[in-house]
Amino acid sequence: MQVFWFIPTHGDTRYLGTSDGGRVFDFDYARQIASAVDSLGYEGVLLPTGRSCEDAWVTASSLIGATRNLKFLVAIRPGIASPALTARMASTFDRLSGGRLLINVVTGGDAGELEGDGFFADHAERYAVTDEFLRIWREIFGKSHTGESVDFEGEHLRATGAKLFFPPVQTPYPPLYFGGSSDVARQIAAEQLDVYLTWGEPLADVAEKIADVRTRAAKLGRTLRFGLRLHVIVRETEDEAWRAADSLISKLDDETIARVQAQFAKMDSEGQRRMAALHGGRRDRLVIAPNLWAGVGLVRGGAGTALVGDGPSVAARLREYADLGIDTFILSGYPHLEEAYRFAELVFPHLPRRVREKLGGHGKVSLSGPIGEVMANNIVPQASQS
Ligand SMILES: Cc1cc2nc3c(=O)[nH]c(=O)nc-3n(C[C@H](O)[C@H](O)[C@H](O)COP(=O)(O)O)c2cc1C
Repeated sequence: MQVFWFIPTHGDTRYLGTSDGGRVFDFDYARQIASAVDSLGYEGVLLPTGRSCEDAWVTASSLIGATRNLKFLVAIRPGIASPALTARMASTFDRLSGGRLLINVVTGGDAGELEGDGFFADHAERYAVTDEFLRIWREIFGKSHTGESVDFEGEHLRATGAKLFFPPVQTPYPPLYFGGSSDVARQIAAEQLDVYLTWGEPLADVAEKIADVRTRAAKLGRTLRFGLRLHVIVRETEDEAWRAADSLISKLDDETIARVQAQFAKMDSEGQRRMAALHGGRRDRLVIAPNLWAGVGLVRGGAGTALVGDGPSVAARLREYADLGIDTFILSGYPHLEEAYRFAELVFPHLPRRVREKLGGHGKVSLSGPIGEVMANNIVPQASQS
């Protein structure tokens, strides 16, 4: 089990749908979150891509020096930059960070937004571009270790003599993550990706996706890993956690929800459609499974569900997903700095021992005790009996 956190390059908040409690995303804040989660022992951080975010590459690059072990899962869009250029950026980042790069391949589900970036293609064409992009990208990296170059003639993309003079630290290339719920996305994942990601849907839906992608991959003699992306709202008691969930949407008005849902409905993303269907835009249908709450998705695109509860129950729910085959959890919570600490303090101790030993295992922070302030110069705190 690997636990990742999230860098909120679109800004942070205490209350969705309003600027009350809003927090500016700037370098100092990004560094605080990155440094905190690095110290706490999270495996890495996801940096999203899109016009509503600060750029993922630039932000991640700025944080290499502020962190020691943290990996950067940088989202890229195949349609808007050439494979060779993106490969060069990835290789440079991997070298400069000492092998700490992971790539999240994002095809995109909003045609209007992509047109703004100069990429005009429908859902099928977009995935055809992703498919070709990945073929060139992987070949460029594969050959970079022997100094060979690549010629590629696809229907959408071409390259002649593409070559990486400086190969990455990781071989053959930084691992490729990917999310997409449509049929074509699942097929590409099975053929070319290392880790298939899904947003936090209920267990049965996640199980279906894993089984489907696994079967497709097996037919090609491949295996891949699976990851889950969702929010967390963890407090010392269940009641407190549910109050925090209510508070997060307490300033959100119905008109804003309707406006945002109408925008989502225009997208051609199957993943977004599945997220919206979980709550149907209704505040009274937000608890969709034990401890699983769809309130974030009322106004946030993409990951729209949160695990809400105390440490033991959230850890138990994560274990249920792990039992289905999920080994990577990409989490976030509002505000991202405070919730990163809360999750580490309240949930890490309830994760399986082998995960706990790795989390916080960088020699700087131990969450397994004795921890807390030493009293009267020589008395160390004891673990609570409760
Ligand atoms: C974990 C995860 C992270 C994603 N990150 C982004 C992102 O940063 N930017 C973006 O535009 N889309 C993102 N997506 C959306 C997908 O990459 C994909 O474009 C979208 O789901 C549409 O594909 P579909 O119709 O196959 O579901 C993400 C999806 C998942 C599952």
